Amino acid sequence: MRNPSLWMATSEWLEQPVLHGDVTVEAVVIGAGITGLTTARLLLEHGLTVAVVESGRVCSGVTGLTTAKITALQSTIYSALTNTWGRDVASAYAAANLEGLEMIRRRVVDESISCDFAAAPALTYATSARGARRIEVEARAAKDAGLPVTLTTESDLPFEIQLAVRLDDQARFHPRRYCVGLLAGILHDGGVVFEHTRALDIDRGAGTVITDRGTIRAGIIVVAAHAPFVHTGFYTSRMSSSRSYAVAFRSAEMAVEGMHISVEEPIRSVRATGDGYVIVGGESHPVGDPRDTGARYRALESWARDHFGADQIDYRWSAQDYRSADGLPFVGPLGTSGRVFFASGFAKWGMANGTIAAAIMTDLALGRENPWAELFDSRRLGLRHGASRLIRISARTLKNYVTKRWRSSGLLRPDDVGPGQGAVVETGGRKAAVFRDEDGEIHAVSAVCTHLGCQVGFNTAERTWDCPCHGSRYGVDGRVVHGPAVEDLSPVNIRMSDRSPAGN
Ligand SMILES: Cc1cc2nc3c(=O)[nH]c(=O)nc-3n(C[C@H](O)[C@H](O)[C@H](O)COP(=O)(O)OP(=O)(O)OC[C@H]3O[C@@H](n4cnc5c(N)ncnc54)[C@H](O)[C@@H]3O)c2cc1C
Ligand code: FES
Repeated sequence: MRNPSLWMATSEWLEQPVLHGDVTVEAVVIGAGITGLTTARLLLEHGLTVAVVESGRVCSGVTGLTTAKITALQSTIYSALTNTWGRDVASAYAAANLEGLEMIRRRVVDESISCDFAAAPALTYATSARGARRIEVEARAAKDAGLPVTLTTESDLPFEIQLAVRLDDQARFHPRRYCVGLLAGILHDGGVVFEHTRALDIDRGAGTVITDRGTIRAGIIVVAAHAPFVHTGFYTSRMSSSRSYAVAFRSAEMAVEGMHISVEEPIRSVRATGDGYVIVGGESHPVGDPRDTGARYRALESWARDHFGADQIDYRWSAQDYRSADGLPFVGPLGTSGRVFFASGFAKWGMANGTIAAAIMTDLALGRENPWAELFDSRRLGLRHGASRLIRISARTLKNYVTKRWRSSGLLRPDDVGPGQGAVVETGGRKAAVFRDEDGEIHAVSAVCTHLGCQVGFNTAERTWDCPCHGSRYGVDGRVVHGPAVEDLSPVNIRMSDRSPAGN
């Protein structure tokens, strides 16, 4: 990983085995982020035999790259949910997220998980009069939804704010150390976790997960892979994916207790850790945005310098999350077999949401009632609510697919790609995604995303090929870094002229 997060750099755990051959269990969970590990833990607590398959390392997906605020106060979500769905849904969402937070808090205490868990207030703040009006609206909506929020002009940020809506007794933690705690519990209860094992497909009839290392047969299959990689329900087309950036630096003088997020653009998210780091996040954009992603880090770093006097950035990282067109996560059955479940679309608020999603999927799998199942029901149509957003998502996908895939004018040639750069180029009548490393060596792979065929674009900051349609990402060697794609981009042989890209 080019930019490992603070969490990735400060947590260790035992490597788990790779799957060899075929295994039979009662439940298999695909994906070892907070959602998958919590689900595995809950299923084990109900006495099932459980296997987890993870394409990378445990908690190296979005959960390892989050900012890890655990809160029911999530920017201006209550005004949005009240507008789209009404007060009852907003209220159910608030309650579900508080329950998710409580589930984490209980587990941390009961199992003595050492993960820097600490209570903290959450604040959505404004620095302008216009922003303050939005804060008032959000405070009303959050209050109507049942949250004990207050309005305040005070914060522990090192600059003036106009107004903030505040919710006390929320929490922050080290997400990866929490996941290590979940992993320890899974192994203790007899579960198995297979790392470096990618699920490629699900045979719903046979109850089999086909991986690149063997197959796992199970009565219950949970897809907690962040993106549902099977095409059933076309969920990836019903969500948009957005990347955000974070930087962490030491701040000995400034004590930031609260977890803050600005209401104005560009959004700035601020929280601290127990050991003296301040994390600043923001700079969201749709996955595959062709603009220089390195500029996103530079913007955050400059903001951290101006507002916190941060002269040295210790960590920087970026990640992405899905948002459904109607603003609610999808949690529930995947298809009609009754044995496959999934959760996705946490809209950058997946700590509490992912935890409650795990409880919902566990209850559904065991044939039990769950109070939040209806709220997040994956079978809702999503057209009545949020239709215009859905249309926008579909239009962007189609535009990328049609214009970029079939229009061949204006492309670069391989020779035009300089050291450290990547571009989609025309070679031998077809398109290739070409990266030239600092030694001048060319790495060329197909530019056609293996998920549903959109064209990938180069992400300069992470040095990955990112697909704007549903958020798949690939390394410069073509390997899948992030789903929903499960197949790598195939290598392309290209002919280079003798001329070097710099012309020397
Ligand atoms: C920059 C950023 C900041 C955020 N900050 C916050 C925050 O402050 N608070 C909050 O609540 N939420 C936040 N979120 C959202 C939150 O981090 C995510 O919603 C949450 O981590 C998703 O967890 P997950 O377990 O569903 O997915 P992941 O953590 O991504 O886990 C999925 C796992 O599945 C694996 N996988 C994928 N495909 C396959 C396959 N085919 N086979 C096997 N394994 C597979 C992946 O490798 C990964 O490990 C943030 C998100 C971003 C992007
Ligand atoms: S992620 Fe769906 S086409 Fe690329």
